[in-house]
Amino acid sequence: MVSKAVLPVAGLGTRFLPVTKSVPKELLPVVDTPALQLLIEECARCGLDDVLLVTAMGKSSMEDHFDRRLDLEAELDAKGKQEELALVRGLAELARIHSTRQGETLGLGHAVLQAKGHVAADESFAVLLGDDIVDPGSDYLERMVAVHERTGRPVVALLEVDERHAGLYGIASVEPGERPGEHLITATVEKPDPAEAPSNLAVVGRYVLPGSVFGVLEDLPPGRGGEIQLTDALGRMAAEEPIVGLVLDVPRYDTGDKLGYLQANVELALRRPDLASPLVEWLRELIERVDSGALDVAGPDDA
Ligand code: UTP
Repeated sequence: MVSKAVLPVAGLGTRFLPVTKSVPKELLPVVDTPALQLLIEECARCGLDDVLLVTAMGKSSMEDHFDRRLDLEAELDAKGKQEELALVRGLAELARIHSTRQGETLGLGHAVLQAKGHVAADESFAVLLGDDIVDPGSDYLERMVAVHERTGRPVVALLEVDERHAGLYGIASVEPGERPGEHLITATVEKPDPAEAPSNLAVVGRYVLPGSVFGVLEDLPPGRGGEIQLTDALGRMAAEEPIVGLVLDVPRYDTGDKLGYLQANVELALRRPDLASPLVEWLRELIERVDSGALDVAGPDDA
């Protein structure tokens, strides 16, 4: 049974400077909830109640968010704000949260390797990337775990991307899988030249892996960008025996990217009964102002 999740959250977030100089991108709010909280709620829904954060210097506010905050609780209690009190207390009860430090940000594969010891060599575990939001409320991760339990193979999330953008992702070579939406991955290539990409299927932020991945990562030389790449470890494993890719059939947002972050905020706000209707009204007005030229919108060459 898979019960542990590893969340690599040590990255520098350079795509999101200047805010990430002092605020971890994983704590940036999606509407009013930090991205990291959405991930840990996703883990809790799947029964992954042991969460290891792989963190870094300057990012300890992430652990604080899931700790008790007695002064705030007392204040909310004294003021009779029971709903807010339950919200704040509930954060400390979502999962057993552990943390370790990556030390040097030597890549995603290196970050996952820091879980060795916390996760045993014969134990399977989930990995969720700290800036990758999968539709909150969906059972996608649960289905990945079920595929792993059925097949015994590593399972990764696959995103269908525009072929022109293949160079931004780790891309999979695939063969047909056992069931609809499933592919067997035989090789992976990190950020290929789009003309040479083996498919339009990108490996993105959710993985269910066996503990044997640690041995593969330990053996791996630095890959693209001089980093220890998780994609390279998956490629080595897939060359031995195919791994399963489950195509994402629910929305997913890269909140480490400015456009992805804005999309996550707008789309998830539209699911909120308190916000949906005034937001739609405002979006309509906004588009009208853009279309009529009343709002000055930057062109691609204005930078
Ligand atoms: P990203 O690829 O988004 O890297 O990592 P990054 O360095 O944080 O961001 P940019 O590209 O500079 O803007 C995906 C996830 O993996 C973690 C990040 O914190 C993020 O949640 N990560 C990445 C690590 O924990 N360690 C690393 O060495 C690299």
